[in-house]
Amino acid sequence: MGAKLAVLISGRGSNMQCIVNACEKGDINAEVCLVASDRADAGGLAWAAQRGIATAVINPKDYQHRDDADKAMAAQIKAHGSTHLLLAGYMRILSEEFVAQFSGRALNIHPSLLPKYKGLNSHARALAAGDQECGATVHFVSAALDSGPAVIQAKVMIEPSDDAETLAAKVLCLEHIIYPKATQWLVTDRLVLEDNKARLDNQLLETPRQYSVA
Ligand code: GRF
Repeated sequence: MGAKLAVLISGRGSNMQCIVNACEKGDINAEVCLVASDRADAGGLAWAAQRGIATAVINPKDYQHRDDADKAMAAQIKAHGSTHLLLAGYMRILSEEFVAQFSGRALNIHPSLLPKYKGLNSHARALAAGDQECGATVHFVSAALDSGPAVIQAKVMIEPSDDAETLAAKVLCLEHIIYPKATQWLVTDRLVLEDNKARLDNQLLETPRQYSVA
């Protein structure tokens, strides 16, 4: 059976689109079986639907308890036969129970050089701190926000002329490269989570793999 990816988004879904395109090109040996969101107005949903991909909206406001929304989302993911889960700009914190169901099979992308700047406004925080570089990290999903074992990072220099917007655009270009790459490692079992540590090609990733353009 081939790998089937469920991708969770909350917005435009440019990373999700890159994943779909990489699957279609054969750069990822998988198909995207579901794009799901907590927001009905997430731009990426329409894009996915146009491509003939199943979509779902689980709005937490429709549920009395936060855990119920997570349960409904997990049920959708399973109903579509997903083998792996990708968080791609999904802006909700998931419950421990939800995360445990996909342990070792779920990745997230975050626009900072983790462990720096978990959470929101990472680009502005890198600028405010006077950092010389920033970037993006793909990591295994764990119950704590943006904290699972890191898999791959890509860096970009911060120029004096950069603001949060220009920086976000530069980092996003890198995200579009490293997320499909890490996903392909995962679905081909080159990347595994063992004892809460990431291993790539049987080597422990003490630090994330560094992507360089050259
Ligand atoms: C990306 O910067 C991602 O790293 C972050 O949210 C943003 C989502 O962008 N988690 P998109 O929806 O994939 O275009």
